[in-house]
Amino acid sequence: MPNFVVFGGSGFIGSQLVARLAATGSRVLVPTRRRERARHLLPLPTVDLVQIDTFDSATLQRLVQGRDAVVNLVGILHGRRGRPYGADFARAHVRLPQKLAEACAACGVPRLVHLSALGADSHGPSMYLRSKGDGEAAVRADEPGLQWTIFRPSVVFGEGDRFLNLFASLQRRLPLLPLGGASQRFAPVHVGDVAQAIAASLVGARRRETIGRIYELGGPKVYTLGELARLAGAMAGVRGGRGRPVIGLPHVAAVALAWLMEWAPGGPLMSRDNLDSMRVPSVPSGTLAGFAPELGVARPASIEALAPVWLRRLGQQAEYDSWRTHAGR
Ligand SMILES: NC(=O)c1ccc[n+]([C@@H]2O[C@H](COP(=O)([O-])OP(=O)(O)OC[C@H]3O[C@@H](n4cnc5c(N)ncnc54)[C@H](OP(=O)(O)O)[C@@H]3O)[C@@H](O)[C@H]2O)c1
Repeated sequence: MPNFVVFGGSGFIGSQLVARLAATGSRVLVPTRRRERARHLLPLPTVDLVQIDTFDSATLQRLVQGRDAVVNLVGILHGRRGRPYGADFARAHVRLPQKLAEACAACGVPRLVHLSALGADSHGPSMYLRSKGDGEAAVRADEPGLQWTIFRPSVVFGEGDRFLNLFASLQRRLPLLPLGGASQRFAPVHVGDVAQAIAASLVGARRRETIGRIYELGGPKVYTLGELARLAGAMAGVRGGRGRPVIGLPHVAAVALAWLMEWAPGGPLMSRDNLDSMRVPSVPSGTLAGFAPELGVARPASIEALAPVWLRRLGQQAEYDSWRTHAGR
């Protein structure tokens, strides 16, 4: 029975991957900082959770010891500012993959699969992209002999995502949607396809072909951010399916709005660094003909095929909640 440890396995992409690996009969250990956040994984019979509060080398070696592969999905979208990036990005995107590569070498674990992002570049325009670039370099260079695979998805959509859902919920509350970076291009890729590609690199029949490769993952179609915002509102049924007007902001206004959104209660909804990331397109460099055949995704799913199902359901739920509030229940 293959045996994996998946860092970041409790998250949006990780939960899908862990379920997929468990369905193949693999044993999966998911380290998490908050066991509570990962409890949805507990019903999976071959999955174990372990709560950890530090990523020191001794802890990592203990978790990595005896596994067939280590998967790193840990990532953050927002962090303190700095040059080339602040301490939060350095810790999550650079030092952790570096320590994981070292732990693999120290414990004789041959395989490390790492999730990066399209546009990752040590000299990129944002802290997010620069730290992702340095994280990739740490995985590729640090330990000779390590069998690594790196995935670089565009923005990932699916139930529970943080972009279509955010656009839809903002349109339920606001009369119009002001948007920075509205003309930047994305190739959104479905969370199930990303999970499938990563799983193929671990348990697929052609997994050995993925060693030493960097895969860019994009969906079947390219959209501007403005088009995605409009689609999300329409698919969620806002204003009878017309959505709210989406107003593209000039750069200075977009920076000011992003700065305000950094202070949103419960954590930033958007940041100036996110805007900086949008200075480069998030579109695969090759054609959009699909995934490499060894990844086992013949036809990547489209937003049009899948998103209306859950966006409409959430829209109906929001309407119901608002009736209840008005009725004082
Ligand atoms: N979602 C996208 O559109 C997208 C696009 C391109 C690339 N990616 C990359 O794909 C990976 C997974 O993304 P996701 O959307 O699944 O993210 P997510 O839902 O936020 O999950 C990330 C996981 O990482 C762990 N984590 C977060 N911050 C951490 C920190 N400071 N220290 C240690 N662990 C931390 C969390 O685990 P616990 O809270 O359980 O500890 C969480 O489950 C990330 O590397 C991300 O950059 C995502």
